[in-house]
Amino acid sequence: SIKIVTIGGGSSYTPELMEGFIKRYKELPVREIWLVDIEDGREKVEIVGALAQRMWDATPYQVKVYTTLDRRAALVNADFVTTQFRVGLLDARIKDERIPLLHGMLGQETNGAGGLLKAFRTIPVMKEIISDMKELCPEAWLINFTNPSGIITETVIRHFGWKKCIGLCNVPTIAMMAEPAVIHKEAGELNYRFAGLNHFHWHKVFDKQGKELTSQLIGHINERNGGTPANIFQAEFPMELLQTMNLLPCGYHRYYYMQKEMLEHSLEEFKNEGTRAEQMKRVEADLFEIYKQPELKTKPEQLSKRGGAYYSDAACECISAIYNDKRIHMVVSTQNRGAIPCLDSDSIVEVSSLISAKGAEPIVWGEMRPAEKGWLQIMKAMEECTISAALTGDYGLALEAFTINPLIQSGSEAKRVLDELLVAHEKYLPQF
Ligand code: NAD
Ligand code: G6P
Ligand code: MN
Repeated sequence: SIKIVTIGGGSSYTPELMEGFIKRYKELPVREIWLVDIEDGREKVEIVGALAQRMWDATPYQVKVYTTLDRRAALVNADFVTTQFRVGLLDARIKDERIPLLHGMLGQETNGAGGLLKAFRTIPVMKEIISDMKELCPEAWLINFTNPSGIITETVIRHFGWKKCIGLCNVPTIAMMAEPAVIHKEAGELNYRFAGLNHFHWHKVFDKQGKELTSQLIGHINERNGGTPANIFQAEFPMELLQTMNLLPCGYHRYYYMQKEMLEHSLEEFKNEGTRAEQMKRVEADLFEIYKQPELKTKPEQLSKRGGAYYSDAACECISAIYNDKRIHMVVSTQNRGAIPCLDSDSIVEVSSLISAKGAEPIVWGEMRPAEKGWLQIMKAMEECTISAALTGDYGLALEAFTINPLIQSGSEAKRVLDELLVAHEKYLPQF
């Protein structure tokens, strides 16, 4: 019998996760699901926990959903722990996004200054979670979804020494779901190879005979086909660039390849509708009103307004692949082990992998072209600086992470943004 513990259980994404487990019950017979939250999330976790139980009660399966604020009680003998928490909730995200935007810089939850501050807040909490897990469920797998997902996964594996950790993101899932239809293929007719970092990976596509279809798909990249998460503005990619690269970028590459267009759009959106976090706070309030309705027993349609839609397909599929030793292809954050030769073997990368009872086994991608190699090395260095700063609370290291980040204007303005963010989030930054 399988015990699942979800930290940050009050997230509005939890009904997705329940749907994923319900769909897979026959292959993945979960017995108990513990939704863990904190005092600030008490109301949310109670509402979403009650909905989760109603969802199970509408099935023939006997599954008990527990909600608790006691993480240690929940973790005892867990088989799989999933993490989907946000330190400071959406109010902290508003600051992550608003403060850089007020200085004319990108304000985004995982890229630029906002993502770095989210890492600074998350890493101290993750440290406590891992220390509890070492004591209470030393055999458990940790499936991390908490952003910045790649950075957090690297910290857990390399710095906190928890090897049984896999990082996830819904961006590859969404791309693989949408792409077959774009070139008139059925789901299952294509093979994929992904490589890069979280929110910074590229991919190639092949048919079952091994014929490469990447350039055909590049031809459709600027169409609206549902392959990009809802939170990313779809500025047009320069076609010649992609055809030369012969790689499909991920949606987040827009922030790097079309920096000016993306920044202008986000400043415009900020002026008219507020930060993305403020907009999501309104969506979240609506969702929780819906979740409260006692007759509701399924995941409501409105959840698809959130960028993380379909993540449960990745989370539950990954857990099932481990549990059933499936050895199937999934794109996850895991240790490189030579898959991308221009990055350290120990670094966490987001790559096509085979998922089995042993965890993730990355598939070799091979040499990167000079441009991609350069990007990856800069981005990985930025991630490493971020982690060092988060672990030590060293101001110089934090400034170094800001300075190397391609989406933060360097110099005195970067220092001002960092200073304002450190003050705004003081309560959640014991290390600084
Ligand atoms: P949210 O603001 O609703 O937070 C989720 C829950 O975490 C809240 O109920 C909150 O009270 C709780 N929480 C905060 N601190 C906690 C702690 N110390 N221990 C336990 N619970 C705690 O967040 P959300 O918008 O639902 O997003 C959840 C997380 O998932 C975020 O980190 C977000 O970035 C991430 N996410 C990841 C992806 C991906 O592709 N990897 C996609 C979407 C969201
Ligand atoms: C995307 C990503 C997440 C991201 C989230 C934002 O698809 O993969 O990592 O942070 O969705 O969604 P939101 O709706 O909260 O802006
Ligand atoms: Mn993601």
